[in-house]
Parts: sequence; structure tokens; C-alpha cells
Amino acid sequence: MNSLVSRGSSLAYKKAFKPILFRQKPDDVHERLLRSGSHIQNIPVIREALKKAWSFSDPSLEQSVFGLTFNNPVGLSAGFDKNFELPGLLSAIGFGFMEGGSLTYRPYAGNPKPWFTRLPKTESIVVYAGLANQGVDVITKRLKSYPATVFKNFPLNISVAKTNSPKTCTDDEAISDYVGSLKILNQNHLGDMYTLNISCPNTYGGEPFTTKDRLNRLLGKVDQLNLTKPLIVKMPSDKSWKEFNQLLRVIIEHKVSGVTICNLAKDRSKVQLKDPLPDAVLGNLSGRPVWELSNALIKKTYQNYGDKLIIIGVGGIFSAEDAYTKIKLGATLVELVTGLIFEGPQLIGQINQGLSELVKKDGYANICEAIGIDA
Ligand SMILES: Cc1cc2nc3c(=O)[nH]c(=O)nc-3n(C[C@H](O)[C@H](O)[C@H](O)COP(=O)(O)O)c2cc1C
Repeated sequence: MNSLVSRGSSLAYKKAFKPILFRQKPDDVHERLLRSGSHIQNIPVIREALKKAWSFSDPSLEQSVFGLTFNNPVGLSAGFDKNFELPGLLSAIGFGFMEGGSLTYRPYAGNPKPWFTRLPKTESIVVYAGLANQGVDVITKRLKSYPATVFKNFPLNISVAKTNSPKTCTDDEAISDYVGSLKILNQNHLGDMYTLNISCPNTYGGEPFTTKDRLNRLLGKVDQLNLTKPLIVKMPSDKSWKEFNQLLRVIIEHKVSGVTICNLAKDRSKVQLKDPLPDAVLGNLSGRPVWELSNALIKKTYQNYGDKLIIIGVGGIFSAEDAYTKIKLGATLVELVTGLIFEGPQLIGQINQGLSELVKKDGYANICEAIGIDA
């Protein structure tokens, strides 16, 4: 990483690019970014230049988790690269891993637009995409088309949800939808870990598997697949500890290696909004509104299950300090989306550089020593 270039990029993003981007519709910006990014990432000199300018590596950030090597603990969270189109670019800008998707068994064109609404003062995005994605078959072909080098030292976490359709509303249909995708991915040896997204709002049938008995049924069926990759469950944000704990109790009885805490915030009445948000704007909130919810759940989960589950901490990370807070509360890895959109692509290297400084300042040789020290 070139610190001068990185700092200059922050300034340029905040003062020049972001004001222009934020004047355009977020759905359009996202689409253009995917289109241009998927081309740019194929140009080796550009990848190399991005890496030199922005990405940061240091032995203090390297960890072995789930039997995989992570160069750093900062990953992309699900929803930004739904169709796995940008792995080369995401790796070049310094992410340690990525969670693509969520993908589903059948393709879904998405809910009526807008899918995304920015809340600039709240530092949040209202998300109403409803699991838009090209479906497991198309995505399988795309993943197979990448050279193996793309995911070398850049673990791929594949998020799997159930197809957003009236046809997947019964438990049996929904379970075979999840299982169908996982089977295809596993048989094709794709990805390094799988995340079962049980907590996506704005879909037909809601979130049936965020109740203990139904989650137990789903995980029972997934167990039977004998997946060859670690399985993680993406948790909801809006449960009381009692309800959340019931889900965790079920999870530890199955072949699950970790939990991602957590998904979008749903209850607007509990969120401190600094922007107007009319009811007509549908969707759930990312970014700052998820921060407290996620931190409280990470801490309690670590206190109670720290020896049984790896925690991936997500929600409201905008800086190295934010990432470090989640790690000290019990997260082994962290992921983000909204911070990337609000702060710019140089943020990832800056978080990693900041993390390595914070770790050393606290007298640790490696970030893993800081996990859970504030829990
Ligand atoms: C634009 C957008 C799309 C998202 N789509 C998904 C998704 O498909 N699957 C999922 O598990 N989470 C999805 N999420 C939730 C994020 O993965 C993450 O849990 C949440 O936004 C909190 O992290 P953040 O504050 O860093 O954005 C989405 C979030 C955003 C902002």
C-alpha cells in the first residue's frame, strides 16, 4: 500500500467521486460499477496498480480459520457482488476474502426497483433487492470460468438463500431449494465455505428458518449432504437474545462451523434515523443502524459459544477501529458492504493498516490474540 496514494484516494473519493456518484440513482451506480469492474479486473496492470496503491498486508493480520489461510480478516459482505462478477477486483483492492451472493437455486430478477436508497446522514442503505441473482446454474458456470489463481489466498464464501418465489413458501420446497444449490456447489467443488442465509427480509414467505424447529429441520437436511466445506449461518439482527440463543442452540447441534452476525436492521422504530425515511421506501437498513445490534449479539454469542462457533462480525464497519471493536467482542473475521460504498475502495487497505497498528499497540503479535478480549 502506498499511504500517500491511499490518503489522496480517500480525499478524492469523498470530495470528488462520492458527490457525483451520490447524485445518481444508487441502483444505476451499482450496475455501472459491476459492468466496468468486471472488465477492469481482467487487466493485469490495473489489478497490480490497485494492489500497490491500496491493499495492505502484514503477518500480524494473517490467520488460519476453518482450515483456510486468510491474509487479513476483512471480507466483503453478501449483497454487493450478487453474481460473483468482481472477485479479481475485490482481491486487488485488499479484501482478505469475499462473500458473494446471496445466490438461489432459481434466478430471480429482483423486487420492483428501487432496490437501494441511500441515507447519507444515517450512513445507511435501505435494501429492497429481494435476493436478485442469476441463479446457481449461471453462477456455477461463471465460477468455473475463473482461473484458480483468482481465489488463491482469497477464500470464497458463497452465500446461499432460498429462491424468492411463491413456489418456495412451504418448508419442504424451501428446504429442497437451499439443498439443491448447496448440492450443485459442493459437487462442483466451488467455493471455500458456504453461508446459509436464513435472514433475508423482503422475500415471499418471509424468514421461516429463523425459528428453532424449522431451522433444525433445514440444518438436518443440510447435514445429510456431508458438505466438504465449512458451513456458516447468517443470522438475523432483530431477535431478542432469548430467541437468538435458541437458534444458536440448534446450530451447535449440526454440522455448522460458524455464524455471521448479522443481517440488515428491520425495525425502523428502533433505529436512530438522521434522514427522512417515508414508509413508501421499502426495505431494511444496513450500515450504522446495524452497529449496536450486531455488536451486542457478537459479544453474547462469543461469551456463550466462543469455543464452538467462529463468528464473522458484520454491520456498520467504517474504519479500522470499528473492525477492531468487533474482533475484540469476539469476531474472528469481519465483513462489510456499506463502509465500502460510503468511504471508497481504498478503505479496505486502510482498515487493515489500522488493524495492524492497533494490534501492535495492544502488544499482540497477531490479530487472533485480540479476539474476544472485550467480551
Ligand atoms: C446493497 C446490499 C445488498 C445486500 N444483500 C444481501 C444478500 O443478498 N444476502 C445477505 O446475506 N445479506 C445482504 N446484505 C446485508 C449485508 O451483507 C450485511 O449483513 C449488512 O448490510 C450489514 O453490513 P454493512 O453495515 O457493512 O453493510 C445486503 C446489504 C446491502 C447494503
